[in-house]
Amino acid sequence: MLLKNIKDFTFNRRYMEDIKKQIEEIKLTLETWEHAYYVLDKPIVDDLVYDNKLKELKTLEEKYPEYITSDSPTQRVGGQVSEKFEKYNHKYPMLSLDNAFNQDDLYDFDKSIKKQLEKDNFSYFVEPKIDGLSISLIYEKGKFSKAVTRGNGLQGEDVTFNVKTIRSVPLRINDTSDYFEVRGEVFLSKKEFERINEERKLSNEDLFANPRNAAAGTIRQLNPTIVASRRLDVFLYYYLNRDKYTKHSESLSYISSLGFKVNDLGKHCKSIEDVIEHINYIENQRYNLQYEIDGAVVKVDEFKFYDKIGYTSKFPKWATAYKYPAEIKVTKLLNIFASVGRTGKITYNAILSPVSLAGTTVQAATLHNAEYIFNKKIKVGSNVKVKKAGDIIPEVLEVIEDELYNTLETYKKIEYCPACDSKLEIFNDEVDQYCINFNCERKIIKSLEHFVSRGAMNIDGMSIKIIEKLYANKIIKNVIDIYNFKKHKSKILELDNMGEKSFNNLLEAIEKSKTNDADKLLFGLGIRYVGSKTAKLLLERFKDVKNLLNATKEEIESIYEVGPKVAQSIIDWSSIQENVDLINELQIVGVNINFSKNQSNDNVNISKKSFVITGTLSKPRPYFVDLIESFGGKVISAISKKTDYLLAGEEAGSKLEKAKSLQVNIISEEDFFKMLEG
Ligand code: IVH
Repeated sequence: MLLKNIKDFTFNRRYMEDIKKQIEEIKLTLETWEHAYYVLDKPIVDDLVYDNKLKELKTLEEKYPEYITSDSPTQRVGGQVSEKFEKYNHKYPMLSLDNAFNQDDLYDFDKSIKKQLEKDNFSYFVEPKIDGLSISLIYEKGKFSKAVTRGNGLQGEDVTFNVKTIRSVPLRINDTSDYFEVRGEVFLSKKEFERINEERKLSNEDLFANPRNAAAGTIRQLNPTIVASRRLDVFLYYYLNRDKYTKHSESLSYISSLGFKVNDLGKHCKSIEDVIEHINYIENQRYNLQYEIDGAVVKVDEFKFYDKIGYTSKFPKWATAYKYPAEIKVTKLLNIFASVGRTGKITYNAILSPVSLAGTTVQAATLHNAEYIFNKKIKVGSNVKVKKAGDIIPEVLEVIEDELYNTLETYKKIEYCPACDSKLEIFNDEVDQYCINFNCERKIIKSLEHFVSRGAMNIDGMSIKIIEKLYANKIIKNVIDIYNFKKHKSKILELDNMGEKSFNNLLEAIEKSKTNDADKLLFGLGIRYVGSKTAKLLLERFKDVKNLLNATKEEIESIYEVGPKVAQSIIDWSSIQENVDLINELQIVGVNINFSKNQSNDNVNISKKSFVITGTLSKPRPYFVDLIESFGGKVISAISKKTDYLLAGEEAGSKLEKAKSLQVNIISEEDFFKMLEG
């Protein structure tokens, strides 16, 4: 019996050892295949073969969970949906790069290094500047342990679970140092970016402006499953250990041999002339690449000179980023269409023959107003030069007056509203055309959208999609109907996508909005020239909306900072009986029309503080201006020592540098919303 037990035990142990070995072999095979596919871009097996092998591993791991390790290929999407990202202090600051915009700048860069190094022999390394977000990857004893964003350079955010989903990031490496750190750029390929936007278009979501914004939005996603569904990628370009190798080029070969993805356009250059030649070579490749680049980075190759050349507080002096100019393309302007906004303002847009511009296919351009079309002599059917100005919608630079051009008709501006067909008007000193029909459907929908927006009544959850649906079903035709929402419960629940819970949440947000201070209401009404700041100024004097509407032009104008244009606009608005009725009805349904300083929405963090806004934020700039002003802060354009905060988005440039040097508080969008919440 005892012998049998021993035999069983030995057999069992051997059996388990075999399982462990089998699991390890499968892992190694999968890692090799993943490396070939995701890093080298040279698959060695069919997708199906890979999937089957992964399934085999999953089955074994399910049966023997004691052998699941965090670096198993099955564990890429493991994290929970989190509430926020933890902050992480970088062991070494993540510096930025100085910029060069032309050859002269490059020669200056070369000269300053030569001055520092005198007779020392040095060389350069030139590589593409990937247009993504910097990331730091940390490995401990060969195992992937952390991924951190750059943040402010000293402190970033821990996005480990999101980066783990990136297949080109090895989860274990053949370098078992206690601490190993590499840095690089997370990006989305142009193809993947277009796929994501296509998907968003179908589900009516806002489109990402460019692959970098999409990558930034993805890396800051709190749900790793969504991250995994978007195929982020990462190029590594900086190995932090300078003791192991003596040159940047060698360290890149080393991290590449460990399985990291290193860009293959990097080149060792002996002189600044070689550098310029390679920068030009990369620029020629720019639009054939699968990913976006916005320049080339030039680095001194020999590590031993880094300290001698030195650093500023923001960047190393041994490297610089050469920025490529924005791409300009010629395409045919196929048609012009106009749309109407909430104030009735007409905006013109161009439909273009699809053209690949700066890495994405564009087929529309903004034309602003009829005056713009007239000044640029734009004609339907003409060839135009287009350029992307950091946004998804490019701008028309100029028209090409070729032979074809002379055969085309001059564009005639529209005379009637594209939505309701009523006659358009131009106000005295303006260039824009306006639809002045009160019953124009598009205008109503757009003004309802404004009424519920964050800077106005702040009815959370009432999206434009919901408004359109409720409007189409005649449930909401004006702002009063929003406050009768409850009465239509059964009908609203029948509309698709609206469950009981969403209904209740929306109802709660509507009820809450009734207690807003009246400046929110006044701003929400969308009276021309009455922005959130003016609304507050007006109500500080008149105390309630009715008093304001009964005031004379002189009384309104007597407020410092309120001019005749605003006063006239209010007088015009209040002379319309429907508007007076609207205020009465809003009061009857319980909406607060009083303004009292005590219950003012001034936010201690924002009130009386000055803000400068820079970089790309998740929403257009006016959105943040409205918010800041509605909470009592002010937005200024130039940064100075007196500025309280710099609200810095992605790709913040010179203002960020200036803020740092003036020691102005720099806040992210997330910090800003935290301040708002008090
Ligand atoms: S080197 C200390 N190399 O560009 C030097 N940066 O504008 C570290 N970038 O913050 C940066 N491609 O996010 C380096 N091949 C490359 C790069 C690169 C893109 C980004 C990086 C950096 C920014 C500076």
